[in-house]
Amino acid sequence: MTTLVSLAYLISGVCFILALRGLASPETARRGNQFGVFGMALAIVTTLCLIGTASLWAIAVAVTLGGSIGAVVARNIKMTALPQLVAAFHSLVGLAAVLVASAAFLNPAAYGIAQGGGIQLSSLIEMGIGVAIGAITFSGSLVAFAKLQGLVSGKPLTFRFQHQFNLALGVLIAVSIVMLIATQAPVAYWMIVGVALLLGFLLILPIGGADMPVVVSMLNSYSGWAAAATGFTLENPLLIITGALVGSSGAILSYIMCKGMNRSIINVILGGFGNDAGAAANAGGGANDRPVKIGSAEDAGFVLKNASSVIIVPGYGMAVAQAQHALREMADHLKDAGVQVRYAIHPVAGRMPGHMNVLLAEANVPYDEVMELDEINRDFGQADVAFVIGANDVTNPAARSDPKSPIYGMPVLDVEKAKTVLFVKRSMASGYAGVENELFYRDNTMMLFGDAKQMCEQIVKALDA
Ligand code: TAP
Repeated sequence: MTTLVSLAYLISGVCFILALRGLASPETARRGNQFGVFGMALAIVTTLCLIGTASLWAIAVAVTLGGSIGAVVARNIKMTALPQLVAAFHSLVGLAAVLVASAAFLNPAAYGIAQGGGIQLSSLIEMGIGVAIGAITFSGSLVAFAKLQGLVSGKPLTFRFQHQFNLALGVLIAVSIVMLIATQAPVAYWMIVGVALLLGFLLILPIGGADMPVVVSMLNSYSGWAAAATGFTLENPLLIITGALVGSSGAILSYIMCKGMNRSIINVILGGFGNDAGAAANAGGGANDRPVKIGSAEDAGFVLKNASSVIIVPGYGMAVAQAQHALREMADHLKDAGVQVRYAIHPVAGRMPGHMNVLLAEANVPYDEVMELDEINRDFGQADVAFVIGANDVTNPAARSDPKSPIYGMPVLDVEKAKTVLFVKRSMASGYAGVENELFYRDNTMMLFGDAKQMCEQIVKALDA
């Protein structure tokens, strides 16, 4: 039985690794997901066999209830609301880690970790670290959820000596863990839980909206490490492997995103970066009277069909309008007319990693037309048209030129180097970071005001005509 269980867990672990590998590219993502689903199904069935029939009813009720809620939420969630959903799910992983560790602390015999009237040393260490990470993940993810959902202000909430205070809390947690190991005193255990919950809140509160994506990814990593710690408490090797995979892949993704936004990963881990003061000052950008060139769908159709090379830059607005199918139809028309069409994807365009890639894949845009920032940025200089659809921050030159801007240092797509820049959006409003975009006022820019999907449909009609 033990050999079979180990074998099944090993197969699950390999499936999870293949799932992560598959998810690295849109071409293999579907296969990757299938590996993940199979691995998880095998892991659940194996674990149920291991438990036996003792608590089968309670488990069946919990799985049915949790599974039903999960299915309803997953079916109804809008893709643009995924970041807050992910943050909410991370909070549940953190909470689970705290609950499991607390149950094991209160009843060590039930978990096979009792020793001489107390708890064995190794389990105390795992428990102390695990519950701390779990509590930080729980409260931190709740704050991230509330900020992304707009329940609390997305502006950074800071106070004097914040970093010093957070450091003191970190030290207090470390001291409490040592106390727990030395004395097994309940007060030490509950101290870790309480202080870690507070630290989780305080680490995420000062994060400004523009930096939220990195934080969600970092919380993903924390939730993985919390799960791994739970795996040690439950002596479940698969949970340790899975937790470590989530923890390390989340950390790698955070690193990649930090590079994409030119942020320091150390700052993300310690909290308190992403000062949005500039964003707040600029919020509602476009309130000045400078003239802009406004065009119609017919104007855009004329410019596009006379181009020989067009680079499309999709952003959050394309996702909101669900314009990807109409956009592809427009691109097909242009390609039929002999125009070279490519798509430029910024690493943080939209509201989640890979957001644009998923939407374009859904609209069957050929993968070889979809380029990453590094691959295509220098080609804007030779492009006739940069067609920016529902994107804003990812094109904003303030990221290069204004050290006070909250997006300063983030690499951006050099759309302004194209002969003509067409911006499809509904108004002069700013994007997620709340920063005004200087490009709207440039001579080679034409604003196409309207919903992204409707604008693409109208351009298709204009091209047909
Ligand atoms: P944004 O800078 O947020 O700009 C989106 C633009 O779309 C807005 O200016 C908006 O202008 C326009 N828009 C909204 N609805 C539209 C519609 N129906 N039709 C046409 N246009 C519409 O988006 P971006 O350029 O993709 O940049 C992403 C931003 O989000 C970055 O600041 C990034 O840091 C942040 N962020 C990213 C992620 C990840 S991981 N990708 C997660 C969270 C946050 P109007 O209102 O005038 O139409």
